[in-house]
Amino acid sequence: MTDAFVPVAALADLAPGAALDVVAGGIEIALVRDEDGGVHALEDVCSHDEIALSDGDVEGCTIECWKHGSQFDLVTGRPLQLPAVLPVRVFPVRVDEESGSILVDPTATTSP
Ligand code: FES
Repeated sequence: MTDAFVPVAALADLAPGAALDVVAGGIEIALVRDEDGGVHALEDVCSHDEIALSDGDVEGCTIECWKHGSQFDLVTGRPLQLPAVLPVRVFPVRVDEESGSILVDPTATTSP
């Protein structure tokens, strides 16, 4: 099995409670740091409409779409609030402590 993780950003550029839009493997990804410092990677499209989740607000371990207010769990990608009813894809993510890079595997998902 090959390692498909690719570096997408520096951890220093993603403060807790912030989000960045990055591209990996041709997929637009919202790179999100929860308020406890954990890093998450979700497909950067709200499941309710074509809106970038990376433009939303991070609250605890969720991100809220700015357009109609659906909140998504950063771990599972599941919507926690209407109007969105479908989950967004979540990608495996890890931090290379030595280089300070955030790496994402765009070929795998950890949720439907
Ligand atoms: S576009 Fe995201 S909740 Fe409607």
